[in-house]
Amino acid sequence: MASHTGELTPAVRVKDLHRSFNKAGGVLNGLDLDIAPGEFVALLGRSGSGKSTLLRALAGLDRGVTGTGRIEVPEKVSVVFQDSRLLPWKRLLDNVTLGLRVANAAERGVQALAEVGVAGREKAWPHELSGGEQQRAALARSLVRDPELLLADEPFGALDALTRIRMHTLLRKLCEVHQPAVLLVTHDVDEAIVLADRVIVLDDGVVRHDARIDIHGRRSQADPAFARLRAQLLTELGVEDDHDAPGRPTRAHLDERAAS
Ligand SMILES: Nc1ncnc2c1ncn2[C@@H]1O[C@H](COP(=O)(O)OP(=O)(O)O)[C@@H](O)[C@H]1O
Ligand SMILES: [Mg+2]
Repeated sequence: MASHTGELTPAVRVKDLHRSFNKAGGVLNGLDLDIAPGEFVALLGRSGSGKSTLLRALAGLDRGVTGTGRIEVPEKVSVVFQDSRLLPWKRLLDNVTLGLRVANAAERGVQALAEVGVAGREKAWPHELSGGEQQRAALARSLVRDPELLLADEPFGALDALTRIRMHTLLRKLCEVHQPAVLLVTHDVDEAIVLADRVIVLDDGVVRHDARIDIHGRRSQADPAFARLRAQLLTELGVEDDHDAPGRPTRAHLDERAAS
């Protein structure tokens, strides 16, 4: 859908968004944000900067919060959280297709589970799966709905480093196939750079930094452009780059191990 300016209508349009939990002060203070269809945006910000508040507002899950502003999102929105939120009393396939009102729901659920790499586990109970498998199932549950917008709040935050890298590969692949617009909240600068088309930093309740990632090809820590962007984002976040700290496994090491 093209507007008269020839630009795509944004998938997400947020204008002058304000949110606060009490009179002490605002969490979001006039935030503006557009996300294009199919664009993958990573949202960084210090703990308590309002990332989850923004995500919940976009998901329509922020009842009880006071605020003003305009939010336009597509009709089909899926949300993934840090924990899979699978219902423990439902088998995997039933979790994935829960509330899915299409004729071939089961078939699509089976297909989605295969797509995220847990084929054949349809009858498993959530507790029989590893944390990584549970998050794969959560991704299957969101993608089976063919969302135009995927909202993810630190979806890999509880996973070990190797599993996280495998999930990065999976998420990128899934996004190439399904092409939803994505807003991924993460506190991991490397994750943001590896996955996103664009990184924004939230600070004082507004978007403080907003930049496209113009690293082409396979994004590797060995690439000087990666290191520069990493250092810049860490500075934005007020964190010192401890990249070369002794004993810290580098992304390159982990990538190698994840691939093997
Ligand atoms: N339900 C709530 N009640 C009161 N304060 C809240 C609530 N949720 C979040 N806050 C406050 O709002 C601010 C932003 O929180 P949040 O959006 O969760 O930050 P982030 O996800 O960036 O860590 C924090 O100061 C937090 O304490
Ligand atoms: Mg949060």
